[in-house]
Amino acid sequence: MIKVGVIGYGYWGPNLVRNFHEHPETAVAMVCDLDDALLSKVRMRYPTIETTQSLDALLADPELDAVAVATPITTHFDIALQAINAGKHVLVEKPLAHDVACCDQLISAAAARDVVLMVDHTFPFTPAVQRIKQLIDDGEIGDVLYYDSVRVNLGLFQHDVNVIWDLAVHDLSILEYLLDDKPTMVSATGISHVEGHPENQAYLTLQYDARLIAHIHVNWLAPLKVRQTLIGGTEKMIVYDDTEITEKLKVYDKGITTDQSPESVYQMRVGYRAGDMWAPHLDHGEALRNLVTEFVACVQTGKTPLTHAESGRRIVRVMEAASESVKENGRPVTL
Ligand SMILES: NC(=O)c1ccc[n+]([C@@H]2O[C@H](COP(=O)([O-])OP(=O)(O)OC[C@H]3O[C@@H](n4cnc5c(N)ncnc54)[C@H](O)[C@@H]3O)[C@@H](O)[C@H]2O)c1
Repeated sequence: MIKVGVIGYGYWGPNLVRNFHEHPETAVAMVCDLDDALLSKVRMRYPTIETTQSLDALLADPELDAVAVATPITTHFDIALQAINAGKHVLVEKPLAHDVACCDQLISAAAARDVVLMVDHTFPFTPAVQRIKQLIDDGEIGDVLYYDSVRVNLGLFQHDVNVIWDLAVHDLSILEYLLDDKPTMVSATGISHVEGHPENQAYLTLQYDARLIAHIHVNWLAPLKVRQTLIGGTEKMIVYDDTEITEKLKVYDKGITTDQSPESVYQMRVGYRAGDMWAPHLDHGEALRNLVTEFVACVQTGKTPLTHAESGRRIVRVMEAASESVKENGRPVTL
Protein backbone atom coordinates (compact mmCIF):
# COMPACT_ATOMS: atom_id res chain seq x y z
CA MET A 1 0.00 0.00 0.00
CA ILE A 2 1.50 3.32 -1.10
CA LYS A 3 0.74 6.15 1.33
CA VAL A 4 0.05 9.42 -0.45
CA GLY A 5 -0.21 13.05 0.66
CA VAL A 6 -2.18 15.43 -1.59
CA ILE A 7 -1.20 19.11 -1.60
CA GLY A 8 -3.90 21.51 -2.83
CA TYR A 9 -7.64 20.82 -2.41
CA GLY A 10 -9.15 23.46 -4.72
CA TYR A 11 -10.85 22.52 -7.99
CA TRP A 12 -8.67 19.60 -9.17
CA GLY A 13 -7.22 18.28 -5.86
CA PRO A 14 -10.50 16.52 -4.84
CA ASN A 15 -10.30 14.40 -8.02
CA LEU A 16 -6.81 13.22 -7.05
CA VAL A 17 -7.85 12.54 -3.45
CA ARG A 18 -10.87 10.50 -4.62
CA ASN A 19 -8.82 8.44 -7.10
CA PHE A 20 -5.93 7.75 -4.69
CA HIS A 21 -8.46 6.93 -1.95
CA GLU A 22 -10.38 4.48 -4.14
CA HIS A 23 -7.37 2.77 -5.73
CA PRO A 24 -6.71 -0.65 -4.10
CA GLU A 25 -2.95 -0.05 -3.88
CA THR A 26 -2.88 3.50 -2.52
CA ALA A 27 -4.19 5.25 0.58
CA VAL A 28 -4.44 8.99 1.11
CA ALA A 29 -2.92 9.62 4.54
CA MET A 30 -2.90 13.43 4.57
CA VAL A 31 -4.23 16.43 2.63
CA CYS A 32 -2.65 19.88 2.84
CA ASP A 33 -4.18 23.19 1.80
CA LEU A 34 -3.63 26.75 3.01
CA ASP A 35 -7.41 27.16 3.34
CA ASP A 36 -8.89 25.40 6.38
CA ALA A 37 -12.44 25.76 5.01
CA LEU A 38 -11.42 23.39 2.19
CA LEU A 39 -9.76 21.02 4.66
CA SER A 40 -13.00 20.82 6.65
CA LYS A 41 -14.61 19.36 3.49
CA VAL A 42 -11.91 16.65 3.49
CA ARG A 43 -12.62 15.87 7.17
CA MET A 44 -16.36 15.63 6.47
CA ARG A 45 -16.01 13.34 3.48
CA TYR A 46 -13.00 11.26 4.54
CA PRO A 47 -12.88 11.12 8.38
CA THR A 48 -9.77 8.89 8.34
CA ILE A 49 -7.60 11.30 6.34
CA GLU A 50 -5.46 13.74 8.34
CA THR A 51 -5.42 17.39 7.27
CA THR A 52 -2.87 20.14 7.68
CA GLN A 53 -2.22 23.71 6.55
CA SER A 54 1.52 23.13 6.88
CA LEU A 55 3.47 21.76 3.91
CA ASP A 56 6.45 21.17 6.24
CA ALA A 57 4.31 18.97 8.51
CA LEU A 58 3.14 16.89 5.55
CA LEU A 59 6.63 16.46 4.11
CA ALA A 60 8.08 15.58 7.54
CA ASP A 61 5.76 12.56 7.84
CA PRO A 62 8.03 9.52 7.33
CA GLU A 63 4.97 7.35 6.62
CA LEU A 64 4.24 9.13 3.33
CA ASP A 65 5.80 7.45 0.30
CA ALA A 66 4.50 9.88 -2.31
CA VAL A 67 2.82 13.25 -2.81
CA ALA A 68 0.54 14.70 -5.47
CA VAL A 69 0.82 18.45 -6.09
CA ALA A 70 -2.40 20.21 -7.17
CA THR A 71 -1.59 23.82 -6.35
CA PRO A 72 -1.42 26.82 -8.75
CA ILE A 73 1.11 26.44 -11.59
CA THR A 74 3.68 28.95 -10.34
CA THR A 75 3.93 27.07 -7.01
CA HIS A 76 4.61 23.61 -8.57
CA PHE A 77 8.39 24.07 -8.68
CA ASP A 78 8.92 25.04 -5.02
CA ILE A 79 6.55 22.43 -3.64
CA ALA A 80 7.72 19.58 -5.90
CA LEU A 81 11.39 20.34 -5.18
CA GLN A 82 10.80 20.27 -1.42
CA ALA A 83 8.90 16.99 -1.78
CA ILE A 84 11.68 15.40 -3.84
CA ASN A 85 14.29 16.57 -1.33
CA ALA A 86 12.18 14.99 1.41
CA GLY A 87 12.57 11.69 -0.50
CA LYS A 88 8.96 11.44 -1.73
CA HIS A 89 7.83 10.15 -5.13
CA VAL A 90 6.03 13.05 -6.82
CA LEU A 91 3.04 13.41 -9.13
CA VAL A 92 2.79 17.06 -10.25
CA GLU A 93 -0.26 18.55 -11.90
CA LYS A 94 0.16 19.82 -15.45
CA PRO A 95 2.34 21.61 -16.36
CA LEU A 96 5.50 20.33 -14.65
CA ALA A 97 6.68 23.86 -13.81
CA HIS A 98 6.34 27.44 -15.03
CA ASP A 99 9.61 27.48 -16.97
CA VAL A 100 12.20 25.14 -18.47
CA ALA A 101 14.96 26.02 -15.99
CA CYS A 102 12.72 24.89 -13.12
CA CYS A 103 11.87 21.65 -15.00
CA ASP A 104 15.59 20.94 -15.35
CA GLN A 105 16.15 21.40 -11.62
CA LEU A 106 13.25 19.09 -10.77
CA ILE A 107 14.50 16.42 -13.21
CA SER A 108 18.03 16.43 -11.74
CA ALA A 109 16.75 16.48 -8.15
CA ALA A 110 14.49 13.48 -8.82
CA ALA A 111 17.35 11.59 -10.50
CA ALA A 112 19.70 12.35 -7.58
CA ARG A 113 17.12 11.12 -5.05
CA ASP A 114 16.02 8.20 -7.23
CA VAL A 115 12.32 9.05 -6.87
CA VAL A 116 9.54 8.98 -9.49
CA LEU A 117 8.66 12.35 -11.02
CA MET A 118 5.49 12.14 -13.11
CA VAL A 119 3.25 14.86 -14.57
CA ASP A 120 -0.54 14.67 -14.54
CA HIS A 121 -1.10 15.18 -18.25
CA THR A 122 -4.51 13.54 -18.07
CA PHE A 123 -5.46 13.20 -21.75
CA PRO A 124 -2.99 10.43 -22.70
CA PHE A 125 -4.80 8.33 -20.09
CA THR A 126 -8.26 8.82 -21.64
CA PRO A 127 -9.73 5.92 -23.63
CA ALA A 128 -10.41 8.29 -26.58
CA VAL A 129 -6.83 9.52 -26.96
CA GLN A 130 -5.47 6.00 -26.40
CA ARG A 131 -7.71 4.77 -29.24
CA ILE A 132 -6.49 7.55 -31.53
CA LYS A 133 -2.92 6.45 -30.81
CA GLN A 134 -3.83 2.88 -31.65
CA LEU A 135 -5.41 3.99 -34.96
CA ILE A 136 -2.26 5.95 -35.84
CA ASP A 137 0.16 3.21 -34.75
CA ASP A 138 -1.80 0.54 -36.66
CA GLY A 139 -1.47 2.67 -39.82
CA GLU A 140 -5.29 3.02 -40.08
CA ILE A 141 -5.21 6.73 -40.91
CA GLY A 142 -1.97 6.66 -42.90
CA ASP A 143 0.58 9.44 -42.41
CA VAL A 144 -0.68 12.17 -40.10
CA LEU A 145 -1.00 15.39 -42.09
CA TYR A 146 -2.47 17.76 -39.52
CA TYR A 147 -3.86 18.18 -35.99
CA ASP A 148 -6.37 21.00 -35.69
CA SER A 149 -7.97 21.70 -32.32
CA VAL A 150 -10.45 24.13 -30.78
CA ARG A 151 -10.55 24.18 -26.97
CA VAL A 152 -12.68 27.09 -25.81
CA ASN A 153 -15.24 27.87 -23.10
CA LEU A 154 -16.21 30.57 -20.62
CA GLY A 155 -13.24 29.67 -18.43
CA LEU A 156 -11.82 30.84 -15.15
CA PHE A 157 -9.45 33.75 -15.89
CA GLN A 158 -6.13 32.85 -14.24
CA HIS A 159 -3.87 35.51 -12.77
CA ASP A 160 -0.51 33.77 -12.92
CA VAL A 161 -0.50 32.20 -16.42
CA ASN A 162 -2.05 32.84 -19.83
CA VAL A 163 -4.57 30.55 -21.54
CA ILE A 164 -1.81 28.60 -23.32
CA TRP A 165 -0.57 27.21 -19.97
CA ASP A 166 -4.10 26.33 -18.88
CA LEU A 167 -5.68 24.88 -22.06
CA ALA A 168 -3.17 24.46 -24.93
CA VAL A 169 -1.11 22.33 -22.52
CA HIS A 170 -3.69 19.55 -23.06
CA ASP A 171 -3.25 19.55 -26.86
CA LEU A 172 0.52 19.67 -26.50
CA SER A 173 0.40 16.62 -24.22
CA ILE A 174 -1.84 14.80 -26.72
CA LEU A 175 0.57 15.61 -29.59
CA GLU A 176 3.55 14.56 -27.44
CA TYR A 177 1.84 11.21 -26.81
CA LEU A 178 0.48 10.56 -30.31
CA LEU A 179 3.44 11.48 -32.48
CA ASP A 180 7.05 10.37 -32.55
CA ASP A 181 7.88 13.65 -34.34
CA LYS A 182 8.50 16.67 -32.14
CA PRO A 183 7.73 20.26 -33.21
CA THR A 184 10.66 22.27 -34.54
CA MET A 185 9.06 25.70 -34.50
CA VAL A 186 6.08 27.45 -32.90
CA SER A 187 4.40 30.72 -33.66
CA ALA A 188 1.51 32.14 -31.68
CA THR A 189 -0.71 35.16 -31.49
CA GLY A 190 -2.90 36.06 -28.55
CA ILE A 191 -4.75 38.81 -26.81
CA SER A 192 -5.85 39.85 -23.33
CA HIS A 193 -9.32 41.34 -23.13
CA VAL A 194 -8.83 42.32 -19.48
CA GLU A 195 -6.34 45.12 -18.88
CA GLY A 196 -3.24 43.95 -17.01
CA HIS A 197 -4.14 40.25 -17.17
CA PRO A 198 -2.45 37.42 -19.13
CA GLU A 199 -3.75 36.58 -22.63
CA ASN A 200 -7.16 34.85 -22.51
CA GLN A 201 -7.26 33.91 -26.22
CA ALA A 202 -4.47 32.41 -28.34
CA TYR A 203 -3.75 30.65 -31.64
CA LEU A 204 -0.69 28.39 -31.84
CA THR A 205 0.84 26.88 -34.96
CA LEU A 206 3.44 24.15 -34.62
CA GLN A 207 5.68 23.03 -37.42
CA TYR A 208 7.37 19.66 -37.73
CA ASP A 209 10.10 18.27 -39.97
CA ALA A 210 7.58 15.86 -41.48
CA ARG A 211 4.74 16.99 -43.79
CA LEU A 212 2.70 17.80 -40.70
CA ILE A 213 1.25 20.92 -39.10
CA ALA A 214 -0.63 21.45 -35.84
CA HIS A 215 -2.91 24.32 -34.96
CA ILE A 216 -4.43 24.96 -31.53
CA HIS A 217 -7.06 27.58 -30.71
CA VAL A 218 -7.72 28.26 -27.01
CA ASN A 219 -9.98 30.84 -25.37
CA TRP A 220 -11.46 31.53 -21.91
CA LEU A 221 -13.98 33.97 -23.35
CA ALA A 222 -16.27 31.79 -25.47
CA PRO A 223 -20.04 31.44 -25.05
CA LEU A 224 -19.98 27.65 -25.20
CA LYS A 225 -17.66 24.77 -24.51
CA VAL A 226 -15.98 23.38 -27.61
CA ARG A 227 -13.47 20.53 -27.45
CA GLN A 228 -13.09 19.50 -31.05
CA THR A 229 -10.02 18.12 -32.77
CA LEU A 230 -9.58 17.09 -36.40
CA ILE A 231 -6.74 14.75 -37.24
CA GLY A 232 -6.16 14.38 -40.95
CA GLY A 233 -4.31 11.42 -42.37
CA THR A 234 -3.41 10.28 -45.87
CA GLU A 235 -5.84 7.32 -45.54
CA LYS A 236 -8.55 8.44 -43.11
CA MET A 237 -9.52 11.38 -40.92
CA ILE A 238 -10.58 11.49 -37.27
CA VAL A 239 -12.98 13.89 -35.58
CA TYR A 240 -12.55 13.84 -31.79
CA ASP A 241 -15.24 15.68 -29.83
CA ASP A 242 -14.53 15.39 -26.11
CA THR A 243 -17.91 16.92 -25.17
CA GLU A 244 -19.73 13.95 -26.74
CA ILE A 245 -20.84 11.35 -24.20
CA THR A 246 -20.97 8.23 -26.36
CA GLU A 247 -19.40 8.87 -29.78
CA LYS A 248 -16.32 10.90 -28.92
CA LEU A 249 -14.43 9.58 -31.94
CA LYS A 250 -15.57 9.39 -35.53
CA VAL A 251 -13.30 7.95 -38.20
CA TYR A 252 -14.04 9.09 -41.75
CA ASP A 253 -12.86 7.10 -44.72
CA LYS A 254 -12.45 10.25 -46.77
CA GLY A 255 -9.55 11.77 -48.63
CA ILE A 256 -8.11 12.75 -51.96
CA THR A 257 -6.00 11.16 -54.65
CA THR A 258 -3.77 13.24 -56.87
CA ASP A 259 -2.68 12.54 -60.37
CA GLN A 260 -0.48 14.64 -62.65
CA SER A 261 -2.23 15.38 -65.96
CA PRO A 262 -0.31 13.88 -68.91
CA GLU A 263 -1.24 16.96 -71.01
CA SER A 264 0.26 19.58 -68.81
CA VAL A 265 2.81 19.64 -66.02
CA TYR A 266 0.84 22.54 -64.53
CA GLN A 267 -2.36 20.58 -64.10
CA MET A 268 -3.01 18.28 -61.20
CA ARG A 269 -6.08 16.06 -61.11
CA VAL A 270 -7.55 15.78 -57.63
CA GLY A 271 -9.89 12.87 -57.03
CA TYR A 272 -12.20 12.76 -54.00
CA ARG A 273 -12.83 9.63 -52.01
CA ALA A 274 -15.82 9.40 -49.65
CA GLY A 275 -16.38 6.13 -47.84
CA ASP A 276 -17.96 5.11 -44.55
CA MET A 277 -17.80 6.77 -41.16
CA TRP A 278 -17.58 4.69 -38.00
CA ALA A 279 -17.43 5.45 -34.30
CA PRO A 280 -15.03 3.12 -32.45
CA HIS A 281 -16.19 1.66 -29.17
CA LEU A 282 -14.36 3.19 -26.20
CA ASP A 283 -13.87 1.90 -22.65
CA HIS A 284 -15.57 3.93 -19.95
CA GLY A 285 -12.62 3.99 -17.53
CA GLU A 286 -11.79 7.27 -15.78
CA ALA A 287 -8.49 8.73 -17.00
CA LEU A 288 -7.30 9.65 -13.50
CA ARG A 289 -7.75 6.09 -12.31
CA ASN A 290 -5.55 4.88 -15.20
CA LEU A 291 -3.04 7.58 -14.30
CA VAL A 292 -2.94 6.51 -10.63
CA THR A 293 -2.40 2.90 -11.75
CA GLU A 294 0.55 4.06 -13.87
CA PHE A 295 2.00 6.07 -10.95
CA VAL A 296 1.71 3.02 -8.66
CA ALA A 297 3.50 0.81 -11.21
CA CYS A 298 6.32 3.36 -11.50
CA VAL A 299 6.76 3.60 -7.72
CA GLN A 300 6.68 -0.19 -7.35
CA THR A 301 8.91 -1.18 -10.27
CA GLY A 302 10.94 1.92 -11.12
CA LYS A 303 9.50 2.00 -14.66
CA THR A 304 9.48 5.35 -16.48
CA PRO A 305 6.04 6.98 -16.41
CA LEU A 306 4.12 7.45 -19.67
CA THR A 307 3.92 11.16 -18.87
CA HIS A 308 7.49 11.41 -17.60
CA ALA A 309 9.23 14.61 -16.59
CA GLU A 310 11.32 14.89 -19.79
CA SER A 311 8.17 14.97 -21.93
CA GLY A 312 6.65 17.41 -19.43
CA ARG A 313 9.72 19.58 -19.95
CA ARG A 314 9.32 19.49 -23.77
CA ILE A 315 5.72 20.68 -23.35
CA VAL A 316 6.83 23.52 -21.05
CA ARG A 317 9.47 24.50 -23.65
CA VAL A 318 6.77 24.78 -26.36
CA MET A 319 4.56 26.91 -24.07
CA GLU A 320 7.47 29.14 -23.09
CA ALA A 321 8.34 29.65 -26.78
CA ALA A 322 4.67 30.21 -27.72
CA SER A 323 4.28 32.85 -24.99
CA GLU A 324 7.47 34.52 -26.27
CA SER A 325 6.03 34.47 -29.80
CA VAL A 326 2.76 36.07 -28.59
CA LYS A 327 4.78 38.98 -27.16
CA GLU A 328 6.38 39.45 -30.60
CA ASN A 329 3.19 39.32 -32.69
CA GLY A 330 3.62 35.75 -33.85
CA ARG A 331 7.33 35.68 -34.67
CA PRO A 332 8.23 31.97 -35.15
CA VAL A 333 10.42 30.63 -32.35
CA THR A 334 12.69 27.67 -33.03
CA LEU A 335 12.42 24.83 -30.54
N1 LIG B 1 -5.19 17.59 -15.19
C1 LIG B 1 -6.23 18.38 -15.43
O1 LIG B 1 -7.06 18.13 -16.32
C2 LIG B 1 -6.38 19.62 -14.61
C3 LIG B 1 -7.59 20.31 -14.56
C4 LIG B 1 -7.66 21.46 -13.77
C5 LIG B 1 -6.55 21.91 -13.07
N2 LIG B 1 -5.39 21.21 -13.16
C6 LIG B 1 -4.16 21.67 -12.45
O2 LIG B 1 -4.37 21.53 -11.06
C7 LIG B 1 -3.63 22.55 -10.38
C8 LIG B 1 -4.57 23.28 -9.44
O3 LIG B 1 -5.57 23.90 -10.21
P1 LIG B 1 -7.00 24.23 -9.54
O4 LIG B 1 -7.85 24.66 -10.66
O5 LIG B 1 -7.39 23.13 -8.65
O6 LIG B 1 -6.59 25.51 -8.67
P2 LIG B 1 -7.33 26.06 -7.38
O7 LIG B 1 -6.86 27.46 -7.21
O8 LIG B 1 -8.79 25.77 -7.44
O9 LIG B 1 -6.73 25.17 -6.18
C9 LIG B 1 -5.41 25.28 -5.75
C10 LIG B 1 -5.39 25.02 -4.24
O10 LIG B 1 -4.04 25.01 -3.80
C11 LIG B 1 -3.97 25.62 -2.53
N3 LIG B 1 -2.59 26.08 -2.30
C12 LIG B 1 -1.93 27.09 -2.89
N4 LIG B 1 -0.67 27.17 -2.43
C13 LIG B 1 -0.53 26.18 -1.52
C14 LIG B 1 0.54 25.75 -0.69
N5 LIG B 1 1.73 26.36 -0.71
N6 LIG B 1 0.33 24.70 0.14
C15 LIG B 1 -0.87 24.08 0.18
N7 LIG B 1 -1.93 24.45 -0.58
C16 LIG B 1 -1.76 25.48 -1.43
C17 LIG B 1 -4.98 26.76 -2.61
O11 LIG B 1 -5.41 27.15 -1.32
C18 LIG B 1 -6.10 26.12 -3.44
O12 LIG B 1 -7.09 25.53 -2.63
C19 LIG B 1 -3.02 23.43 -11.47
O13 LIG B 1 -1.71 23.05 -11.67
C20 LIG B 1 -3.83 23.12 -12.70
O14 LIG B 1 -3.06 23.28 -13.89
C21 LIG B 1 -5.28 20.08 -13.89
